[in-house]
Amino acid sequence: MAYPATFCLTMQILCLTLCSLCLSSSAFTTHDYSDALEKSLLFFEGQRSGKLPSSQRLTWRADSGLSDGSSSHVNLVGGYYDAGDNVKFGLPMAFTTTLLAWGVIEFGGSMQTQTLQNAKSAVRWSTDYLLKAATATPNTFYVGEPNADHQCWERPEDMDTPRNVYKVSPQNPGSDVAAETAAALAAASIVFQHSDPSYAAKLLQTAMKVFDFADRYRGSYSDSLGSVVCPFYCSYSGYQDELLWGASWIHRASQNASYLAYIQSNGHTMGADDDDYSFSWDDKRAGTKVLLAKGFIEKSIEEFQPYKQHSDNYICSLVPGSPNFQAQYTPGGLFYVRSGSNLQYVTTSSFLLLTYAKYLSSNGGVATCGSSTVTADKLIALAKKQVDYILGDNPAKMSYMVGFGNRYPQHIHHRGSSLPSVHAHPDRINCGDGFQYLYSGSPNPNVLVGAILGGPDNNDNFSDDRNNYQQSEPATYINAPFVGALAFFSATPQQPRNCKTVD
Ligand SMILES: *[C@@H]1O[C@H](CO)[C@@H](O)[C@H](O)[C@H]1NC(C)=O
Ligand SMILES: *[C@@H]1O[C@H](CO)[C@@H](O)[C@H](O)[C@H]1NC(C)=O
Repeated sequence: MAYPATFCLTMQILCLTLCSLCLSSSAFTTHDYSDALEKSLLFFEGQRSGKLPSSQRLTWRADSGLSDGSSSHVNLVGGYYDAGDNVKFGLPMAFTTTLLAWGVIEFGGSMQTQTLQNAKSAVRWSTDYLLKAATATPNTFYVGEPNADHQCWERPEDMDTPRNVYKVSPQNPGSDVAAETAAALAAASIVFQHSDPSYAAKLLQTAMKVFDFADRYRGSYSDSLGSVVCPFYCSYSGYQDELLWGASWIHRASQNASYLAYIQSNGHTMGADDDDYSFSWDDKRAGTKVLLAKGFIEKSIEEFQPYKQHSDNYICSLVPGSPNFQAQYTPGGLFYVRSGSNLQYVTTSSFLLLTYAKYLSSNGGVATCGSSTVTADKLIALAKKQVDYILGDNPAKMSYMVGFGNRYPQHIHHRGSSLPSVHAHPDRINCGDGFQYLYSGSPNPNVLVGAILGGPDNNDNFSDDRNNYQQSEPATYINAPFVGALAFFSATPQQPRNCKTVD
């Protein structure tokens, strides 16, 4: 959709940040970003566990996991399968929720009414589950038996592997998973504060309780439950980063001074000063810096002043040409951290770039990189390149979002998508019988619309191979940060690439 010049001019008067983008070229229109945004939310319907509502739009899925929790006499029905398997892992599910909520908080105002509703439903599908898990005693963090699950290739609807419930407790602490759950509940409380105040209050109260538990009984869940969480979602970065992140979210949601004091006295020992570049379900440090920097930039909270510099350092590390540039990019321009599920780092860093740009432009600020400065516009342009790459503007001319564009991967590593739908094939397909579909060369019969995959390698090569899970598996935490990023671009006028650009 090309916007007439007068529209651009009006926008320019309204908002300088938005408008410099108006003048930059794009392979995609505003309509394309809206389409991708709606699809990115649809993906979460494909990952749903539990009883599906009548509003379910991804209709090849059906109910599953309806007795989850019963082995421990608790109701743990619901939540999301994390990726291409059928396990409900607590740490990535909570992180997914925090990032989905953060996207709605920052960029929900750019979404159309129905899209915003869908985004809130995606958050709530998870927080309903996290509330159950967090109020079970002791706290639960996941359901499913990953080793047994991975020995089968089964639809969630047929799943018959053990649904063991694993817990953290004062004797077996898990400050990482508990504090991330607190972060998710606190962030979600902001999402629902106006539309459902009583739900929001419950989320925030529970967040405080879970945080108290996380902080009081310190330890990593990888120590107490390593045999089941590792190597899948081992807490490699430890639990300090989650404690600071959890406290920061509760502070943002509640403005309660005791969390401010906590952040102030613990920030240094909890990773605030560390350099790190891979914001993910494991490592929360970069996200915490940006979140806290807002308090200084917009509200002049003096205690958060150091986080402006920490955030600048993180941001500068991503900006080519800056003195402390650290990041790696592929020849085609994709941010590259590692071979497995690399796009998770692309979506998290793009989200942080846009969020930081928003905070900076709220009072005309810039990021300081050594002796030079980087403007919000520059951060937006950098994020846009990453978003566009994912959507198909890349050397392979491949969209890494399933169901978006003309060319996208057909053989994704996802049990439900690769096996026939229970509606098309109601007979059970047993554990071992499913492997013929894993190894088949045929395209997946069910399109998991909106799923973003692990993505290409460091040479921009991608093999559309179901067995290459490092590249072809989707995950909720790859999509979650992308929702906010797409919302931003869907509301930003774009100029088609063949127009003359003014840079
Ligand atoms: C602030 O948080 C602390 C710790 O959770 C709690 O004890 C206190 O009641 C809270 N204060 C208010 C005003 O909510
Ligand atoms: C991967 O990319 C490199 C560099 O573009 C190219 O030379 C190579 O042939 C590619 N490999 C495959 C398997 O496509």
